[in-house]
Amino acid sequence: MDDAFLQQLTSLGGLTRTQVNVGHSNALAAHKDFKSLIIHRRLPDHGWTDAQIQLLLHLLSLLDTNHPQALQQQNTTTRWVGMGEREGRVYSSLVQQRCYGLSHGMGRSGDIGEAQPKAAGSSVLVQLTTKLVMDVIQRACGLTSMKHALAVPLCTGMSLQLVLQSMQLERPHKRKVLWSRIDQKSGFKSMMGLECIVVPTKMEGDQVITNLEALQAALEEHGDEVLAIMTTTSCFVPRVRDQVDEVAKLCQEHDVFHVINNAYGLQCPTVSKLINRGCTLGRVDAVISSMDKNFLVPVGGAIILSPHAERIQRTGKAYAGRASSAPLVDLFSTLLSMGLHGYQGLLAERQRLIETFPTRLNEVAEKHGERLLVTPLNSISYGITLSGSNVSRLGAMLFSRCVSGTRVVPRGSTKTIGSHTFENFGSSTDEFHTAYLTAACALGCTENEVDEFLKRLDKTLKEFKKKQSTSSEN
Ligand SMILES: Cc1ncc(COP(=O)(O)O)c(C=O)c1O
Repeated sequence: MDDAFLQQLTSLGGLTRTQVNVGHSNALAAHKDFKSLIIHRRLPDHGWTDAQIQLLLHLLSLLDTNHPQALQQQNTTTRWVGMGEREGRVYSSLVQQRCYGLSHGMGRSGDIGEAQPKAAGSSVLVQLTTKLVMDVIQRACGLTSMKHALAVPLCTGMSLQLVLQSMQLERPHKRKVLWSRIDQKSGFKSMMGLECIVVPTKMEGDQVITNLEALQAALEEHGDEVLAIMTTTSCFVPRVRDQVDEVAKLCQEHDVFHVINNAYGLQCPTVSKLINRGCTLGRVDAVISSMDKNFLVPVGGAIILSPHAERIQRTGKAYAGRASSAPLVDLFSTLLSMGLHGYQGLLAERQRLIETFPTRLNEVAEKHGERLLVTPLNSISYGITLSGSNVSRLGAMLFSRCVSGTRVVPRGSTKTIGSHTFENFGSSTDEFHTAYLTAACALGCTENEVDEFLKRLDKTLKEFKKKQSTSSEN
């Protein structure tokens, strides 16, 4: 490692040169791809091999103190002596292997975004992962309005909560969040502790859309007490993405924060364009996206994005404690394994599948006297009507044929979450004209899965309709 490289590590990790030098004494080797990655901080066009990724992870972990391979020297001498209560000790070698020896986590108790002095390698890994994901979000997803990111080991819902908490710390007298209704529990639960005002949606054909007039009225009614508006861009039909651009204008006019739940919206270019437009026309403070849904890693992380560095810094400071870096290690490894072209390929494959998916779904539905819900403003989730009685049974029948992820929503079910009761829960509106089934054509879904799903749906609907007619005859 030459001097310029060490200097880059120092600034990237937010460390002192001495800290990096100490870590560097543990390092075993260097590679030109590693050097290029550290210097340019952009995702390589082509994915790396597992061996390359593992080598880099091991190299980075050697920069941390207390690394098991760095503890014993000359057979007996212990190099690092850990005298704190948290010294990155890991008992199981299986666990050591799983985390590549990166056991210090990320951040400091006062700020998840801060460098950890005991962990030069982990600190670099966190910063590098953030740069790589930001690069992919801009160059592959087209979400160019977002300039700053914080990758956190929290699900989407908890990340929304963290962002709101940071906003509340800034404006302590404001406690109300206006929420354009979307029947997904995590979003709603993220506002517990604050006062959520559920703003009703409205119908447009089969689509459940943002009710801008109701939002405007709620802003006027609750005035100075409103902290933020929360909108959603990815959801199950019949709900479609919120009119984020129009809401952004309202937020600007009324000086309230605008938080966007973009759980799995990164895979959808129209959603990215809509958010960019919102940033140009009005106000967007934070966008929260799931790591697993958008980047195919195990559940456990989210990416908080913002056009403003200050929002990200404040959010990092609101995180209580040090955090696990495991979801970031997964994201880092996955991004390097995909490369930019690999990820673009996945996005393109999804776009290819959605060109025919709705038509093919409609064909199956029509064979059984049903039809596709017409929801052009949702290009991830699709639905078909379900007529007759006992529709919930269809979901169980599909599951027993090894089809997961579909949702059957009967009419008129009521659900209470916290102190709020939602009428007709599932459809994001008090009244929807039909029961229905949804299926998502999401990132990572293969053509083979689509073919199999449509075949099994066809068979299951046939059997289901037969059961329906038999029970109506009896
Ligand atoms: C709109 C929306 N928000 C949030 C979530 C939940 O994400 P998480 O489990 O990461 O909190 C989902 C899950 O499907 C969702 O559809």
